[in-house]
Amino acid sequence: MLDACEQSPSYIRAIATYQPGKPVSDLAREMGLGETTIVKLASNENPLGASPLTHAAISAQLSELARYPDGNGFDLKQALCAHYSVLPEQIVLGSGSNDVLELVARAFLAAGTSSVYSQHAFVVYPLATQAVGAAGIEVPARAFGHDLPAMAAAVRGDTRVLWIANPNNPTGTFCPAEQVQDLLARVPRRVVVVLDEAYNEYLPDALRVDTTRWLEQHPNLVITRTFSKAYGLAGLRVGFALAHAEICDLLNRVRLPFNVNSLAQAGAQAALRDQAFVQRSRRVNDEGMRQLTEGFKRLELDYIPSLGNFVSVCVGDAGAVYQRLLRRGVIVRPVGAYGLPAHLRVTVGVESENARFLQALELSLHA
Ligand SMILES: Cc1ncc(COP(=O)(O)O)c(C=O)c1O
Repeated sequence: MLDACEQSPSYIRAIATYQPGKPVSDLAREMGLGETTIVKLASNENPLGASPLTHAAISAQLSELARYPDGNGFDLKQALCAHYSVLPEQIVLGSGSNDVLELVARAFLAAGTSSVYSQHAFVVYPLATQAVGAAGIEVPARAFGHDLPAMAAAVRGDTRVLWIANPNNPTGTFCPAEQVQDLLARVPRRVVVVLDEAYNEYLPDALRVDTTRWLEQHPNLVITRTFSKAYGLAGLRVGFALAHAEICDLLNRVRLPFNVNSLAQAGAQAALRDQAFVQRSRRVNDEGMRQLTEGFKRLELDYIPSLGNFVSVCVGDAGAVYQRLLRRGVIVRPVGAYGLPAHLRVTVGVESENARFLQALELSLHA
């Protein structure tokens, strides 16, 4: 190892690099396949693309490329204020919601502190915790989902952050509002509770509550949202946190200047205006989820019922099935790193993509 690298803190050297879904171009190169023949259902992206309104807004912004973006994101924050009934000082913009999760870790965690998260939870929580030298407390899951009472009980004197993914990735499990409120009532106010709602727009109406209403009563609550999923803007990298103004002030101190580029700011504003697109995304997701789960039942495969735009299915030797699917031009996501070595996570696609995946899966189970 380079002398310089040996000087890097041991907790940095111990980090296992985040493994993203395999890009279509990689598989095309490796297998000699045409890119258009490949189906990628590996990164919980929106199979409908993005709203045409966002394309127009981004095109209109192109003439301004030589200028720095608005570092404070004034117009996007105004649009978010109108949408969520919050004040601009309660919003922190990020390069994807991933960025704001990192900001929370940097602002509140350090060596000698800890954060609490669930087994099988979104991997960025342990990664962000480890990257600042803090200790991670992983609480065993219950039926693949967050055990919120056990998570509240796991809070120690040195705990500064508790992470909840609702719904969680890669399990798709969901904690109803009353359970989250109960946790908020139990956790000391010195602990920041991050409620990561990246998949909120996919929830059925009966389960979706306006959690921003909880901010007043719980000044330690940080809600994170993204434009990467139902809004279809994963490539632009834009997300945000809603929280008490004092928390936002701290997050902004460690935020890189200009962390959300001008195309992302313009695209996100347009996306927010096109709620019909979000509704359509949800409808297509509901239909696709039905198609996939019916396919799993037909193949007699267990799956974890999911409220996101993805579902994890138990296939036995997931590594082998993943490789066979790749050879058939279908990319999904192995989730062994999440403690689910027998599962594959598949993103809900459009009807033809789901059909292609199910067909390839059937051929790949025992081949
Ligand atoms: C639970 C959860 N939170 C946050 C993110 C981060 O997404 P982005 O940075 O694109 O907003 C993801 C991405 O897959 C996720 O699954």
